Amino acid sequence: MATITFIEHNGTPHTVDIPDGTSLMQGASSHNVPGIEADCGGAMTCATCRVCVPAEWMDKTGAVSDHEIQMLAFSGQGGENVRLSCQIVASPALDGLCVHIPESQE
Ligand code: FES
Repeated sequence: MATITFIEHNGTPHTVDIPDGTSLMQGASSHNVPGIEADCGGAMTCATCRVCVPAEWMDKTGAVSDHEIQMLAFSGQGGENVRLSCQIVASPALDGLCVHIPESQE
């Protein structure tokens, strides 16, 4: 279990408990966190589940696959410390993580 806080672009926080092995996207969606659209349901084809991860947490979020890098580049909305939340899997190592949701997932 990891307690994760999603912070909307307007600063509104949403703190949710996400079971181990569940993606942050799934956890956010099941708690109706606004701003995580996840159009593809985690198939890594939409890039509408982006979050910005604090630099000091990046190592704990796991390796970034080539496919994820390509999807972020294709979306034109990648950038430093931007991840697809469907590719970050909750674990005790992520307990306390705060991620920021972009203004738009366009
Ligand atoms: Fe589509 Fe993450 S939900 S890429």
